[in-house]
Amino acid sequence: PTPLLVDTDTGSDDAVALLLAAASGLGDVRAVTTVAGNVPLPTATRNALISLEIAGAADVPVHEGCDRPLLRPLSTAQHVHGQDGMGDIGLPGPRRGPQPGHAADVLLSYARRFPGELTLVTLGPLTNLAAALLREPGLLGRFRHVYCMAGAADAHGNITATAEFNVWADPEAAGVVLRAAHPDTVTWVGWDVSRKYAVMTPEDQRRLERLGTPVAAFAHRINRTVAEWAREVTGLAGYDLPDPIAMAVALRPDLVLEEERAHVTIALGDETRGQMIVDRRRAAREPNLTMVRRVDEAGFKDLLFATCAGTGRA
Ligand code: BDR
Ligand code: CA
Repeated sequence: PTPLLVDTDTGSDDAVALLLAAASGLGDVRAVTTVAGNVPLPTATRNALISLEIAGAADVPVHEGCDRPLLRPLSTAQHVHGQDGMGDIGLPGPRRGPQPGHAADVLLSYARRFPGELTLVTLGPLTNLAAALLREPGLLGRFRHVYCMAGAADAHGNITATAEFNVWADPEAAGVVLRAAHPDTVTWVGWDVSRKYAVMTPEDQRRLERLGTPVAAFAHRINRTVAEWAREVTGLAGYDLPDPIAMAVALRPDLVLEEERAHVTIALGDETRGQMIVDRRRAAREPNLTMVRRVDEAGFKDLLFATCAGTGRA
């Protein structure tokens, strides 16, 4: 299994990604760190703890990080993921709390203790990673690889016309990460990938529900408000799973069918806030990022359903 650190603003799709990380048999989750994003920080922490319990991984330490973006006020996505970030289905609270130690310190200390060994997967705004990078600019090179659910390489956004939520929520943090990034080390899986290859069609939703395991029931029920949002607000037949497809790529890099390297910066102006500026000119600066552009959709769904069909790690 791949040794992992997971940084998450745990809403309903982060929760499914945590199931993949902890209950697919492909991940060895060493620690989870939480950040404000989809929901306020204490809610993200609660949801991460609940998700790990469902995955049979209640022993994995959870550490809290930044409770707001570096410079901007926090704007959550509770209108999409529910007030509690988990579909407002009345989930009982976790049996334990977070461990001491700030997320940025935890990222730094694991990377120092296990240089070149750990894969970091970020599923929320990049605030914690940026905070750690401000302390140690060479941090990214200490990971085996860093995968981020971040951005929209085709500038087709979800929170604005051109920006994806995680990057839009803390665009300065995303900029800090990109300034330190190298395409051999950092890969972004964006909203473009999710909306093309990770859509839970109504048939997929019924299939998930019919699996009948506790893990599948959890994955299905917590996405209730996301499914409603997709149907009623965006007019789509299914909802998509951005964080799970990013996690799947981290666990199974062979699922990637096409990727692109380029020099990428983040727009900070009001109208374009959070948009990825991908320089595809021949004369562009050296690439700083690898962007996944196409994923084996059937392979991703097989992994998702196989994980949900299991009963989780003992
Ligand atoms: C990202 O924003 C959140 O709504 C999801 O959890 C995902 O990380 C998608 O833009
Ligand atoms: Ca997320």
